[in-house]
Amino acid sequence: MSRVVIIGSGIAGLFAALRLDKAGHEVIIITKQRPEDSSTNWAQGGIAGILDKTDGEGMAAHINDTLACGDGVCDEEVVRCVVEEAGDRIRDLLSIGVDFEKDGTEFHLVKEGGHSTRRILHAKDATGAEIERALTNAVDSSDNISLRPHTLGVDLIQRTHGNPEDGIKGIWCLDLGTGNMNAISADAVLIATGGCGLLWERTTNPSVASGDGLAMAVRAGAASKDMAYFQFHPTALMAGNDKPFLITEALRGEGGVLLDNEGLIKYRAGHEQPEKYSFTLKSSHHGSLATRDVVARACDQRMKVTGADNVWLVTDHLDKTKLHNHFPNIESKLNEYGLSLGVDPLPVAPAAHYMVGGLSVDIDGKVLMENGNEIPGLYGIGEVACTGMHGANRLASNSLLEAVVFANRAADHFIARPNNNLEDVPSWRAEGMTKLEEHAPLVRDLETLRKTMTDDVGIVRNFSRLQRAKRMLELLSIEVDLIWTKSLPSRELVELRNLILVATHITEDAIRRTENRGLHYNKDLI
Ligand code: SIN
Repeated sequence: MSRVVIIGSGIAGLFAALRLDKAGHEVIIITKQRPEDSSTNWAQGGIAGILDKTDGEGMAAHINDTLACGDGVCDEEVVRCVVEEAGDRIRDLLSIGVDFEKDGTEFHLVKEGGHSTRRILHAKDATGAEIERALTNAVDSSDNISLRPHTLGVDLIQRTHGNPEDGIKGIWCLDLGTGNMNAISADAVLIATGGCGLLWERTTNPSVASGDGLAMAVRAGAASKDMAYFQFHPTALMAGNDKPFLITEALRGEGGVLLDNEGLIKYRAGHEQPEKYSFTLKSSHHGSLATRDVVARACDQRMKVTGADNVWLVTDHLDKTKLHNHFPNIESKLNEYGLSLGVDPLPVAPAAHYMVGGLSVDIDGKVLMENGNEIPGLYGIGEVACTGMHGANRLASNSLLEAVVFANRAADHFIARPNNNLEDVPSWRAEGMTKLEEHAPLVRDLETLRKTMTDDVGIVRNFSRLQRAKRMLELLSIEVDLIWTKSLPSRELVELRNLILVATHITEDAIRRTENRGLHYNKDLI
């Protein structure tokens, strides 16, 4: 029996844990908050995929849509592999107990931006929560999987310090309950920590999305890839002072339309369907249901031109009973703000949503170094990994699919070559370190970081703002290192250090790029 440590409790981490458990391995899952505080749990839309393995046409269309959305940057072999494995993995989810919506005996399928047809399975408007529920239940009933909540991975332990090619033998983590640093030895570590939406002031991500896994792997010698491609979701609700709430693209798939102030006035005065008045038509003939990069940019541009804080999503022309049945969570959230689905125009604006780039990994999820060699014993799965599936822009609802396929592939890879060589792991060096008494400078530096990324490394970029961000990040990095070298880790300190590193990779990748593709849009390159 080998021991595998998995960092993160979203779909990728939990699915891989179940696979490894079934093969008889010991699994320890560490997760920063409660298991359900993952981006998976917040995913609304669904999981794209063709269930019928004989439906070659359906798969070809899914592959083509993914490649087109990825704007020439996808790895076609990876896309093919993920689309072809979709049916088996979705059936695995069903057998674990995930309850996707049905229409009679068939699955009810929805459509989102960039999809040429309905191919997305869903559980009303809370698909991720349903997947998380089923996977967590299954993990809870396993004897070989121990799940440690409120445990923050801090750094990977290399077999030979300073030599990534010798591999990883464990992890140092912070018990957020006791404040103690612990070392866990492992035959392999699977990083499934999700993304880094907290880098921007407005994000649809949960408060755990601080790029921890990416940062710790990079410090252990891993390469990052395509970091400039960060996806902003076009429609996060702008109501109240709460955290932005996602309004799923599936609502536009059912006919919801984006309008600016002027379009809304014209629509109300006219007798035509709202799409006729949508500013999005100037960007694509697909209008409000164009791919996410195009729609988010169109919203951003409209808001900048008009000075408005939001655009409007209108749904009053749609069947209210259908809306009520398909989007109950969105409906009840809207009601909290005195808004009514199918009646009121909804104020929405783009928000940071998904890290399309990430750790460079191969087709089995093995983490790679800059020279293309693997780091033995280290895997990256889910949002943290850049597999080549999404190219320069992720097709909606392909992320849960990619996560489950790569979780399975990484687990299979380990199971076929189980390393069984637990080594002693050193304790965290704590001599001379003191407990951080004042967190105020960290709070201020985090605000500066998020402001910098929002203002200078957002949806539309230019070289001078990117260079300004780079200088600011260098300064923030010096400041956080000064504190890091003399303090015992705290959650705030670990996260800030990670966020600054990830922001640096995003900014530097954006500066290096000489052409606009997908989600990377630099005005100086037009
Ligand atoms: C959404 O429901 O709009 C988000 C789905 C996704 O990001 O794939």
